[in-house]
Amino acid sequence: MLISGSGSNLQAIVDAQADDPSFSAELAVVVSDRFGVGGLLRAETFGIPSEVVNWSDYPDRTAFTAAICQTLVRYDVELVVLAGFMRILSEEAIQRFPNAILNIHPALLPAFPGAHAVEDALAYGVKTTGVTVHFVDEHVDHGPIIAQEPVPVMAADTAALLHKRIQTIEHRLYPKCVRAAASGHLRVEGRTVIWNER
Ligand code: GAR
Repeated sequence: MLISGSGSNLQAIVDAQADDPSFSAELAVVVSDRFGVGGLLRAETFGIPSEVVNWSDYPDRTAFTAAICQTLVRYDVELVVLAGFMRILSEEAIQRFPNAILNIHPALLPAFPGAHAVEDALAYGVKTTGVTVHFVDEHVDHGPIIAQEPVPVMAADTAALLHKRIQTIEHRLYPKCVRAAASGHLRVEGRTVIWNER
């Protein structure tokens, strides 16, 4: 799993695994693009190996992505789960892990891509936003959609309140998608993701 923040989605996936013996994928490594984030502490608590590939140590995205890929290969990973990972990976990652990188985005893509999806949806005045889980391709917040769920926007919402409700959905939806991907239950045909089991 690749993280940049608090790692609440990491927590949700670990919890889902604990609750479901058939969700048996091994969480090989948690990689952060920065030091000192909550997700690294969670990994330590769970006894999951963790690594920091510090964004600011690299001259550009290509070099950063190469270091991420080297780390993932060292841990022999088959599936890469981006959970609040706030960096864009360059093409090397997509080529090395085709249809094997999952991302979660706090909006109903293709609406509100980018790093400020919750704020952007609120500022636009939408009545419904939501959660998207998708495979990562070479464009930002663009790859084939695995699952989406709507979240209504309330009149009194702030970005923090809305994001909190969005995350409640994320913590249910992402483990389900990761479990399906890890069990080989997702097939991609063009832009369509076909679920063989729910
Ligand atoms: C999640 O809400 C995720 O949707 C968002 O970051 C949060 C990370 O939370 N991702 C993006 O905005 C990606 N563009 P977490 O660190 O507690 O899992």
